[in-house]
Amino acid sequence: MNELIIRQPDDWHVHLRDGDMLAAAAPFTARQCGRAIVMPNLVPPVVTVDEAHAYRQRILAAVPAETGFEPLMTLYLTEQTTVAELARAAENPYIHAVKLYPAGATTNSDRGVRDPLAIDPLLAELARTGLPLLVHGEVVDPQVDIFDREARFIEQVLVPIRQRFPELRIVMEHITTEDAVAFIRTQEDGVGATITAHHLLYNRNAMLVGGIRPHYYCLPVLKRERHRQALLTAATSGDPRFFMGTDSAPHTQGAKESSCGCAGAFTAYAALELYAEAFDQVGKLNMLEAFTSVNGPNFYGLPLNESRVRLTRHPQSVPDYFEVGAAERLIPLRAGETLSWQAVRL
Ligand code: NCD
Ligand code: ZN
Repeated sequence: MNELIIRQPDDWHVHLRDGDMLAAAAPFTARQCGRAIVMPNLVPPVVTVDEAHAYRQRILAAVPAETGFEPLMTLYLTEQTTVAELARAAENPYIHAVKLYPAGATTNSDRGVRDPLAIDPLLAELARTGLPLLVHGEVVDPQVDIFDREARFIEQVLVPIRQRFPELRIVMEHITTEDAVAFIRTQEDGVGATITAHHLLYNRNAMLVGGIRPHYYCLPVLKRERHRQALLTAATSGDPRFFMGTDSAPHTQGAKESSCGCAGAFTAYAALELYAEAFDQVGKLNMLEAFTSVNGPNFYGLPLNESRVRLTRHPQSVPDYFEVGAAERLIPLRAGETLSWQAVRL
């Protein structure tokens, strides 16, 4: 297959940032995706409905109006979040989910929740209103090896939360292991998972063989090949519980290429091209549209996009960098290399 036409995708997990980085990164998402679930881990985080409204306006001002891009806003759950604020969020047409970061798990998560099993009134309110809980699924216990943190989170946190709140709608974000795939498959309705393009395309060798490659460092960290294979099988299976979420997470070149580099890979500039490459590798391009453009809207109870995108097998080179403001650079994943697919909106 050298060409396919699919519904316009949505990105169900993306970091658009703020300020100069927002201006640099958001147009890429807006050009490709109809909608995106926008992560709230700004500094300071987006914790109230009013803050989410203000952020939404900044995003709309940063993207070309003709794209018709719709940012779907989220709130950042903290230990100070109130039941009343969640009730307001659930009534609000622009807010589509609430994000749970275990404190210390990832970039800008220090205002997150120390003990996710100690916020029952908040989870009860989400269960009551139907507002989905998006989880960064890694434990932060320093005793737990970083490669085991996702599997441990499932046992220690997700399973108990599911037992206590069977009605709670949950998206396990950016899953990276066969354990997460197996967990999601055993769940009833109301539980889904996003999978990134980079976790479908790469295992941890890409980050560590032949030198340490900071642009491949993200959280949850890339895992071994067995896990990549499990993610590919899940994403290409057509199972409605798995959908596209790039976790595109731009940082400046200086923040990435450092003795303590930030976690996050910038993929939004070619999200669909990268997913197409992963699906093509296993001969499953026919399953791409379900994953990128159907399963996500169905989970969130939103209409499917009506416009279409044409994907063509056509090598194109990736720029070495994108400008951020006047002085900074953003290095995309695959910088200076080649993409095998090209996506054009129809
Ligand atoms: C994200 C970021 O930079 O905000 N980083 C990442 O590696 N994915 C945070 C996150 O989603 O964990
Ligand atoms: Zn993320």
